[in-house]
Amino acid sequence: MITDQIAAVRQELLQRPAGLVRHVERVLDEAIPLAALWGADKERVELSVWGHDLFRAKSPTEQLRLAKEVGVEIDEDAKAYPILLHGPIAATVLRERFRLTDEEALMAVRDHTSGLDQMSLLAKILLIADKIEKRKRQGAPELADVRQLARRDLDTAILCWSDWRWATEAREGYRIQASHWRARQHWVEEHHAEIGMPPRATGRAFAAAARREGLAPSRE
Ligand SMILES: [Fe+2]
Ligand SMILES: [Fe+2]
Repeated sequence: MITDQIAAVRQELLQRPAGLVRHVERVLDEAIPLAALWGADKERVELSVWGHDLFRAKSPTEQLRLAKEVGVEIDEDAKAYPILLHGPIAATVLRERFRLTDEEALMAVRDHTSGLDQMSLLAKILLIADKIEKRKRQGAPELADVRQLARRDLDTAILCWSDWRWATEAREGYRIQASHWRARQHWVEEHHAEIGMPPRATGRAFAAAARREGLAPSRE
């Protein structure tokens, strides 16, 4: 039963430092209305929210140790920033220790930090709710605009967040995470494909279309 799983994962999270617990509660405040708005299953969203940061408070050394222990791959970015491992570690522990079998919820938890080129609705809601929660908006007012946008267009909101992250990384001199960059490139392409104009008509086709629409005098 998903309600039992939510209770167990929530109970585990409540053992974590108070600041982290408050963050997760604020993420839930964002995620539940987004779930209602976009027609996602509220309980599956809630489960992934309670689980996403189970290991967020661990030190970099602990992240690396835990990743090795549970068999999470450590790439070059994770070596530089071990905090990137907390999502994949949580997904593995939720699967193995908490017996979660909801693959979409597990993938949402795994990729909540940086996203992935293809994401389920559940994953998109968790990712954006995690980034726009109240405390984060206070630190970066631009995220309030991203939050507004998430109510109109979830994909574009994620792309805008990614642009904001890119600008922040460039300004602060942070390393750009390769997997996030790949995902971002995909989101950009998808965005432009969706808003792109149809192929340009030739002069003759354009004239014929204009006549059909009654916008140009017919030849007769
Ligand atoms: Fe996180
Ligand atoms: Fe989080």
